[in-house]
Amino acid sequence: MKRQMIHVLFWTTVLSCVFYSCTKDVGINPLIAYSDKALFDSCRNEKAFAYYQNNPGTVYSGTNGPHGAFKLKFNKIALTALTDNGKLPAGSIFPNGSMVVKEVQHNGQYAFMYKRAGSWLWAEINADGSVAYSVNKDAGAGCINCHSQTGHRDLVVSFNFY
Ligand code: HEC
Repeated sequence: MKRQMIHVLFWTTVLSCVFYSCTKDVGINPLIAYSDKALFDSCRNEKAFAYYQNNPGTVYSGTNGPHGAFKLKFNKIALTALTDNGKLPAGSIFPNGSMVVKEVQHNGQYAFMYKRAGSWLWAEINADGSVAYSVNKDAGAGCINCHSQTGHRDLVVSFNFY
């Protein structure tokens, strides 16, 4: 009887530990740092970003893209690469950890790209945190094909227009 109790106690503890670590947002798994939710939190961290050309008030028309009017911001890592009059020099690339965020004006959505291990993660997250386009989705047809248009700089295209 006592042995049985110990068994039950043991397995309850093990299972709750497993369950707990699987449901935690920030866990042991480093991949979770690049989840939709973690990156959504990053884009809302105002202190980590500056707006394009240092113009926090500027709304760009967005007539060439699918999102409509937007504000454009870069995190501090991305900013270090903007050395051609506030643009990325042609032929250069953004360093790992760079984040470029479009704040879509009509619905508060964040469309962003995050540079990880040499390639971009792409996503669209709504203002309430719900996921419109997940980082885990294949971004080829959804984002990259269009972002490979003539004149792109490391797949960033706003420099063509603004
Ligand atoms: C049909 C073409 C097209 C598609 C598809 C597209 N974009 Fe864009 N995107 C643009 C254009 C053009 C701009 C430049 C600003 C503008 O006019 O909207 C842009 C700008 C951006 C920017 C600001 C950085 C930059 O490149 O200028 C981000 C971030 C972005 N898009 C994310 C995404 C994501 C994420 C997806 C896929 C879910 C996506 N875009 C799909 C055309 C596209």
